[in-house]
Amino acid sequence: MSDQHTPRTMPRQSWTFSNEINSEIRRAAATGIYDIRGGGAKRRVPHFDDLLFLGASVSRYPLEGYREKCETSVTLGTRFAKKPIELKIPITIAGMSFGALSANAKEALGRGATLAGTSTTTGDGGMTDEERGHSEMLVYQYLPSRYGMNPDDLRRADAIEIVVGQGAKPGGGGMLLGQKITERVAGMRDLPVGIDQRSSCRHPDWTGPDDLEIKILELREITGWEKPIYVKVGGSRPYYDTALAIKAGADVVVLDGMQGGTAATQDVFIEHVGQPILACIRPAVQALQDLGMHRKVQLVVSGGIRTGADVAKALALGADAVSIGTAALIAIGDNDPKWEAEYQELGSTAGAYDDWHEGRDPAGITTQDPELMARLDPVEAGRRLRNYLNVMTLECQTIARACGKNHVHNLEPEDLCALTMEAAAMAQIPLAGTDWYPGKKGF
Ligand SMILES: Cc1cc2nc3c(=O)[nH]c(=O)nc-3n(C[C@H](O)[C@H](O)[C@H](O)COP(=O)(O)O)c2cc1C
Repeated sequence: MSDQHTPRTMPRQSWTFSNEINSEIRRAAATGIYDIRGGGAKRRVPHFDDLLFLGASVSRYPLEGYREKCETSVTLGTRFAKKPIELKIPITIAGMSFGALSANAKEALGRGATLAGTSTTTGDGGMTDEERGHSEMLVYQYLPSRYGMNPDDLRRADAIEIVVGQGAKPGGGGMLLGQKITERVAGMRDLPVGIDQRSSCRHPDWTGPDDLEIKILELREITGWEKPIYVKVGGSRPYYDTALAIKAGADVVVLDGMQGGTAATQDVFIEHVGQPILACIRPAVQALQDLGMHRKVQLVVSGGIRTGADVAKALALGADAVSIGTAALIAIGDNDPKWEAEYQELGSTAGAYDDWHEGRDPAGITTQDPELMARLDPVEAGRRLRNYLNVMTLECQTIARACGKNHVHNLEPEDLCALTMEAAAMAQIPLAGTDWYPGKKGF
């Protein structure tokens, strides 16, 4: 019995059964289908934010920003390709499919990348003329689904990326729901209009690393040994995946951590499969070093990269370049608060909108609806992407100079300290204020 004067404990929300979890249970009970969405993992995982640069001091000598150069160029594909890719900046645009993205969005990515002196990448569903026409350097993805795969496009590309997996869903395939399968999208994929599509999770004609080696050779023969061949893997077993990709003959390894975005897949996959990129870089670099291939086979990393500080940290851990997906979409106008009223009509809000699979994106980016798509001006959006890429590069350079480096590639693990034990263990960087990092080397 309690009377009204007895003090009462505040009602307590369960951590295990939080409001979010409960609403998902109710949604599942009402619909009988798992939740599908776009974007990357929303949970907090150890990240580049958990590392800090030490900067120069008495024992280190910084470079003067206005007088002393700090280079940012990167060459990808120096191992076998006759025509490696020469980038002005260490940031590339990741593969995002036409179908998931509108033709205008693909064009904007090509324009922005070209203005900034970097490459962009096709995706599931093939190469559009807009994209090829506006991308000075275009990487053509060769995917398990083979949607939109065309040998002529292999030759029109500047590099080829064999996709084994993605960070958001290692071991899984993507989805493109019927709402987004217009005649053009269907035509490029040789599939019916308006019918949901699932992309395969593995290549139809190979079952392991030996077949990957044969595939790489085939692609080199088709393209006269001109183009760099990248192999993209999700952040799963980075040491062995990198070692096997090198053994199979890759020129470049692209490693995508679990925070990496996707156009559409099961939420359970996005949140529960794969490792954060922070935990993947050192094992991959170790594999490159063990095989004597560090800096000979280039390492491009992605998954949750947003700022020049993230770029600088990835490079300091041993990557040659980074790749961005989600951040590039935000730069060209995705999730912009100016569409807030419309996001609310869709039951969402700017910044959290992730129903990209539904094709009703007010910003005109993750849609095939002609009226919505027309809202995105590819010229203006391309300029915004260029600006953003420039800012990230300047930020990365500023940090490199402060660490006394005349090339961003000279950043090294020794320039970093870790703020948390988890980050210290994963990135093999000493915990701040100590010379100790938890965990053992070995993968
Ligand atoms: C809208 C969208 C579509 C994507 N489509 C593909 C694709 O077709 N092929 C692929 O390999 N990765 C695809 N990805 C993953 C990106 O290539 C990249 O791995 C990921 O976005 C990097 O993480 P970030 O988004 O945190 O930068 C897609 C990502 C997004 C956001």
